[in-house]
Amino acid sequence: MKHEITFRPSGKKAEVSRGTTVLAASFRAGVHIPTRCGGKMGCLMCKIEVDEAAKAQLSPPSEQEQRKLGSLVHQGVRLACQSKIEGTVAVTIPEDKLKAAIRKQLEAARRQDRDDLW
Ligand code: FES
Repeated sequence: MKHEITFRPSGKKAEVSRGTTVLAASFRAGVHIPTRCGGKMGCLMCKIEVDEAAKAQLSPPSEQEQRKLGSLVHQGVRLACQSKIEGTVAVTIPEDKLKAAIRKQLEAARRQDRDDLW
């Protein structure tokens, strides 16, 4: 049985078989999720954000994943390499911290430019 997964914020989608990990589905969708360990729960770089609706469509976190994520697991964070798709689902890939910092600086500079014009 196939299920659709949507990756936010890009909106890219993939259809995958039940039990496919979110990380594997991201490859099919052409979405980049950082990874260094190749899905072995060693790097913790593949964090995704899931809301309540998404939680119901993913496999529950294992004890090991819960231990690795600590309190983050209660804040809607999962590891893409450990989250298996069990139904149609949408997940969010958090913005890279460096990109977020650069975006904030650019936005501040644009605001400053606008203020200088007036
Ligand atoms: S890919 Fe390394 S922990 Fe998920």
